[in-house]
Amino acid sequence: MCKIKKKIKDLQNIIIYYNYLYFILGKPIISDDRYDYLFNKLKFLENKYLKKININSPTQLVGSRIFQKSILKKHLTPMLSLNNVFNKIDFIKFYSKIIKYKNNNKNINFFCELKFDGIAVNLIYEYGVLKKAFTRGDGLIGEDVTKNIFFVQDVPYCLKGKHFPKIMEIRGEVLMSKKDFFKLNKKYLKFNNNVQFSSARNLASGTLRKKKINKLIKRKLFFICHGFELFNYFKNLDSYYKILMKIKNWGFNVNKNFIFSNSLNNIINFYLNIKNKRSKLKFDIDGIVIKVDSLKLRKKIGYVSKYPKWAIAFKFPSKQKTTKLLNVSFHVGRTGIITPVAHFKSVIISGAVIKKASIYNNNELKKLNLYVGDKLFISRAGDVIPKIIGKKNKQNYNILNKIKFPKKCPSCSYYLKISKDKINYYCTNSLLCIDQITKRLIHFFSKTSFKIKDLGPQVISQLVKKKNFRNPIDFFKLNLEILNSLHNVGKKTSKNILNSLNKFHTISLDKFIYSFGIKGVGQVSSMNLSKYFSSINNLINSTKQDFLKVPGIGKLIAKNLYIFFSKKKNKQIIYNLINKFKINILKNKKKYLNSIFLNKNILITGELKNFSRTEIKNKLEKLGSNVKNSFSKNIDLVIKGKNPGIKLIKSIQNNIKIIDENYLLKKLK
Ligand code: IVH
Repeated sequence: MCKIKKKIKDLQNIIIYYNYLYFILGKPIISDDRYDYLFNKLKFLENKYLKKININSPTQLVGSRIFQKSILKKHLTPMLSLNNVFNKIDFIKFYSKIIKYKNNNKNINFFCELKFDGIAVNLIYEYGVLKKAFTRGDGLIGEDVTKNIFFVQDVPYCLKGKHFPKIMEIRGEVLMSKKDFFKLNKKYLKFNNNVQFSSARNLASGTLRKKKINKLIKRKLFFICHGFELFNYFKNLDSYYKILMKIKNWGFNVNKNFIFSNSLNNIINFYLNIKNKRSKLKFDIDGIVIKVDSLKLRKKIGYVSKYPKWAIAFKFPSKQKTTKLLNVSFHVGRTGIITPVAHFKSVIISGAVIKKASIYNNNELKKLNLYVGDKLFISRAGDVIPKIIGKKNKQNYNILNKIKFPKKCPSCSYYLKISKDKINYYCTNSLLCIDQITKRLIHFFSKTSFKIKDLGPQVISQLVKKKNFRNPIDFFKLNLEILNSLHNVGKKTSKNILNSLNKFHTISLDKFIYSFGIKGVGQVSSMNLSKYFSSINNLINSTKQDFLKVPGIGKLIAKNLYIFFSKKKNKQIIYNLINKFKINILKNKKKYLNSIFLNKNILITGELKNFSRTEIKNKLEKLGSNVKNSFSKNIDLVIKGKNPGIKLIKSIQNNIKIIDENYLLKKLK
C-alpha cells in the first residue's frame, strides 16, 4: 500500500511539473496523449486506493483539461481605484501627507512601479489553484472571465511551490503589446464588421470579455501582477515589496521597472526616467504608481471611498500630435443642439488611433478659426477624450476653405436658432427632424433605458428613414418581414430584436423617465424624480412647482418636464406602453442618487482647460448642483482651474473641499 501511495505522490508531482511547464512557461515537453495517459492513470489509482484525495492533486484542479465549478460570484475584497496627480507639486503634497505618519523618525519606504494601461483583473486562488477570474467591474462585483483567463499568458493555473494560502486574490493588469495591437487591429478589420479598436486596452478588454476568443488573439494577452490580498498569509512580512517577490516565485509576472525607496528625489527621478522610456516599452502605460510599502502603515493611513490614501498614480501629461484637418461635420443631437466634429488624418496618442474630435459649440469653432487643410495640434483630455488644442497659423488662407457654422439644420434644413448666450446653435424642428427623432429613439432603446438586444443605431436609423418609424410604439409593432427588408440585418439579429421586444415587460421608473431623453434630465435627476413621485401617474399630473421640490431640479428642467408630460402625444405613448404593450413600471427602492455634485453649492475659480464657464455650469446643474458666482460659507465644493483667484484662498481658509479639473473630468465621466 505504501508503494502505491508513493507511486500516486510521484505521479502527482510529475503532473504538477508538466502543468507548470505547459501553463506557466508555455513550453510542454510531453505530448498531449502521454499527458492524458498519465493523468488518467493517476485518477484511476487515486480513486481505487485513496480514501480522501488531496485537494492539491492535479486531478482536483481547474484548467483547460478539467473545469471545476466555483460558487464564487464576486471579489472577496473590493478592488479599489487610484487617486491621480499630474504634476510635481501635487505629488509632493501627497508625499508630505504620508511623511507625517513617520514614527520615531523611521523613514517611510515607498514601492514605485508602472501604471499599466490594461484591464484590471482579480484572480482567486484556493490552495494555489486558480478558481475564478473577474474584471474589476464596479470594484465590488466584476465580470466573470474565468474561461478566457486560461488564454492569457502568465496566469498560472496552479502555482509553483508547496505551501499556499487557503484562499487569496492576485490583482493585476491584462495587457497586449503595442506591436501585437497594431498587427491584430489590421487583421481585425477583416473579421469584425470593419470595426477597429482604438487602443490595445480596448482590444484586450473586448477579447477578455468575449464568449469565444478568436484564436489569433489567444496567446497575445499577458498578465502583470500589481497587488494581492493574502488574508494574513505572510503574517510576519510587513512589506508589499517582499511579499511581491514571494508571489513572483509562485509563477507570477512582476514587471522589472520598479524602485523601492524612501527618498522624494529618487521617486521623482524614477518618474522622469520612465517618462523618457515610455515610448520604448512594449506595452502602454500612463504613469507610475507610488505605494507605501508597509502593510501595517497602509491600514493606519486608510482609504477615502474608492481609493486608498496610501497610494497615488503620478500620471504622464497627455501627449500632443500634429495632423491635418480634413473637414468638419455638424451633428444634430437628440435635443436639437448642433455639434461640430473635426475629422483629421488619423494619429496615435497614448496608444489609441484618433481621427476625430468634438469641437463642442460655436464659440469653440470661432476661437479655433479653422480652414480645411489646417495643421492641428491634438491631445487627449484626461488622457482619454480627443481634443484640438490649437493650430499652426499660416500667412495666407483660402477663404473658400473656411469652416463656418451652417445656417440650416444638416438633417432637415430648418433654419437654426442660436441660444441666448450665443454658444449653441440648435434645430427647433424637434418633431420632424429625422436626425433628432433617430437620436431620441437610439437613446430610448439604449442600454441605460429600454435595453433591447441588437436594436442598435444602424437598425433604428434604417427603420426611421425607410419605414417611417417615429416613436417607441412603432418599434413594439416590429415584425420579421420589416426587419428582413433592412440592409445588413441578419436572421439572428432580427430574432434577437423580436425576442427581446416580446420579453420586455418591466422597467424601473427611473429608467422609464430617463429613456424619453427630456432636455436636462439625466440619470441622476431621473432617479430623484422616481424617488419623489413613485409613479408615472404622479409625474404626469405634476405642476412646475411640484417638480421644483425634487433635489437637483431647477427652473429650466422643471419647465422641460412640465412641457413634456403635458403633451397629449407623449401621454399617449406612455399609456400605450403601459396598457397595450403591458410594460410594468417598478418603483425604485434606492435612495436619492449620490452624485458628488448633487445638491452641492459649487464655486469655480480659475480657467478650466476642457470647459467654458457656461458649459461646466450647465453640466453641473444637470447633475443637481447650484453653481455660485461668489464665495460664501455655504459653498460645499470648489473646482480649481489654472490661475485660481482669491476664492481659492478663502476656500482653503474655510476648509472647503477643493477638486481639480482632472478629478472633475473623472467624476463627470
Ligand atoms: S494598485 C489599491 N498598481 O489603475 C490600489 N493599480 O486607476 C489599487 N493600475 O484599477 C491599484 N497599474 O487596475 C495598482 N501598478 C499598479 C497599477 C494599477 C495600473 C490600475 C488598476 C486600477 C487603476 C486605477
